[in-house]
Amino acid sequence: MKILIASAMLLAASMSASAQSSGKIRVGLMLPATGTFASLGAAIENGFRLYVAENQGRLAGQEIEYVRVDDESDPAKATDNVNRLIKRDNVDVIVGTVHSGVTMAMAKAARETGTILIVPNAGADAVTGPMCAPNIFRSSFSNWQQGYAMGDVVAKKGHKKVMTITWKYAAGDEVVKSFKEAFEKGGGKVTEELSLPFPNVEFQALLTAIAAAKPDAVYTFFAGAGAVKFVKDYSAAGLKGRIPLYSTGFLTDGTLEAMGRDAEGIETTLHYADGLDSVRDKGFRLAYAKTFKSAPDVYAVQGYDAAQMLSVGLSAVGGDVKRKTELIAAMEKATIDSPRGRFTMSKNHNPVQDIYLRKVVGTENKLAGIASKALSDPGRGCRM
Ligand code: BEZ
Repeated sequence: MKILIASAMLLAASMSASAQSSGKIRVGLMLPATGTFASLGAAIENGFRLYVAENQGRLAGQEIEYVRVDDESDPAKATDNVNRLIKRDNVDVIVGTVHSGVTMAMAKAARETGTILIVPNAGADAVTGPMCAPNIFRSSFSNWQQGYAMGDVVAKKGHKKVMTITWKYAAGDEVVKSFKEAFEKGGGKVTEELSLPFPNVEFQALLTAIAAAKPDAVYTFFAGAGAVKFVKDYSAAGLKGRIPLYSTGFLTDGTLEAMGRDAEGIETTLHYADGLDSVRDKGFRLAYAKTFKSAPDVYAVQGYDAAQMLSVGLSAVGGDVKRKTELIAAMEKATIDSPRGRFTMSKNHNPVQDIYLRKVVGTENKLAGIASKALSDPGRGCRM
């Protein structure tokens, strides 16, 4: 047994040495492959691989080699998973993940080791707040950006009393907090904040409470398979058409086929939409559909842009991933030509981007306007 373990270790060591000497760049993809966020992880990986494939499998001339870990959206396993990528697999860069709680552990490990981390989804405010670091970037959004944009929209629509409902964890809590910040600034009042543990989908008792309280509107954050169940249950409880439902766009991105008519008319805010009508987005959607035989969603865009960001950094250092200071400086200054529209990086390494208002029509999140132009995360608590 001991001999087996030792030879496996030798093999791993020689594999990583040969990867380094052959100039390959090792990218650790830490994403969910199982559980309620599995489809989100798959779309991110597809997006990342698509950009690399469009560049003949290379970034800045360097071949890209992947090491994959299923993080299961489980914060309890996150520290072990990320440390395995950094210490055993010797990855040069980590891309991950979807779940805010898992990403907090990844950010901690990235801060401690200096490994470059690009977050292609999770919005945990702390990652680009108190835990910010030169080597940590996001290609996605902060939870603050998502909630704040919709709080403003719902206040301007004239709703006064809103109830919120979400999963009880960092993303749900933070999205609701920033929704409340903007909504109450605009004259509204959040009358009750309902929640259930992640990834629980037993919504019935909470929907009964909403029906009894009769607020002007409901604001929510759910995503993936849980979002499908929520929208179907909202409709089955007789609330659709009676109490308007507003949400972050995660509710209806990548989920509309499964929701069917129950999603019709839902308004959401997000940094991506159907019908952006730009040459860049059309080209991306065509390439994605051809390669993966499905339509891309916001998660695919975030994965694609994570690869674009890395490419900008690597190009500035001639593909030498060890020249970290210059690589980081180039990523900080980059303007990313994203399918969502061009974006730059804020001082705390979060995209400064337009947040769109969308409305569900059939199986599309149709662009209905811009909710917040060039919205920048405030980076509260970030010292860099
Ligand atoms: C989060 O945990 O930050 C998250 C998960 C799914 C969609 C959006 C955000």
